[in-house]
Amino acid sequence: MLLIKTIQELQNALAKAHADGQSVGLVPTMGALHEGHLSLIKRARKENDVCVISIFVNPTQFNNAEDLEKYPRTLDADLELVNDYVDIAFAPTAEEVYRVPATEKYDFGSVEQVMEGPARPGHFNGVGIIVKRLFDWVQPTRAYFGEKDFQQVAVIKTLVRQCHLDLEIVPCPIVREASGLALSSRNKRLTEEERAISANIYRILKESLALNTTNVQEIKDFVAHELAKFDLFKLEYYEIVDGETLQPVQDLNDSDSVVGCITVWAGNVRLIDNIRYK
Ligand code: PAJ
Repeated sequence: MLLIKTIQELQNALAKAHADGQSVGLVPTMGALHEGHLSLIKRARKENDVCVISIFVNPTQFNNAEDLEKYPRTLDADLELVNDYVDIAFAPTAEEVYRVPATEKYDFGSVEQVMEGPARPGHFNGVGIIVKRLFDWVQPTRAYFGEKDFQQVAVIKTLVRQCHLDLEIVPCPIVREASGLALSSRNKRLTEEERAISANIYRILKESLALNTTNVQEIKDFVAHELAKFDLFKLEYYEIVDGETLQPVQDLNDSDSVVGCITVWAGNVRLIDNIRYK
């Protein structure tokens, strides 16, 4: 595994692979890696000649200074975890990435006007900036994203369409703890007790699949009511949306693809998760 810090070195290291027509798989991450990230990396390894991971806590996508400051940074452990799977680990500094200032403005339309869009102003623009730059530098054949960030996948697919990029976006399933809690770098900030309680989020979502109704408001009310039984939780939103357009549906029969997307505060840690109804 090659650890690379600069864009120039990254492009040099990939030049031969591109010239030889080798396929390149890219897994963008912000580090503090866990089995969720590793599932993307293993898949990228299997499906491509060359496997590249980026590890960069991207300041332009944080709309909250405290969240950026508290975001875990564990580069040495990250490199050890991925060493056996990855050909290139690209871990640049913010100075390197933003030597050209981040003036790009994206408009992803309706997919960014719901849920995380209004909740985190500027977040998806920052994600678009870093992901588009990584695509430009790496020129991947395929890029891997987790469905844990369901809306992010839709935003990235929109980016690829809007910019006419010639690459495949590969969405990968959510990896969970045995308890059901979706793995997340932010889980590191939960106490053991908070972590145990947070397993109830997925339990409640799963129970909501089995309600005897297709009425979305009833399902949302159930989830809100069950979550409210725990003092730890503060529900930011639970939206049940069309899995392609991300627009809210009123009834599960309104679309062939329906996903429930949740954001819950567990104390001062913001957790997101989602579940497919159909
Ligand atoms: P980060 O949160 O580090 O996540 C990197 C990738 O891992 C994302 O595609 C995310 O969806 C995926 N991932 C995280 N937890 C997962 C889980 N439990 N199961 C499956 N996949 C999971 O998402 C970002 O970073 C950033 O926004 C990024 C795309 C790197 C741009 O900065």
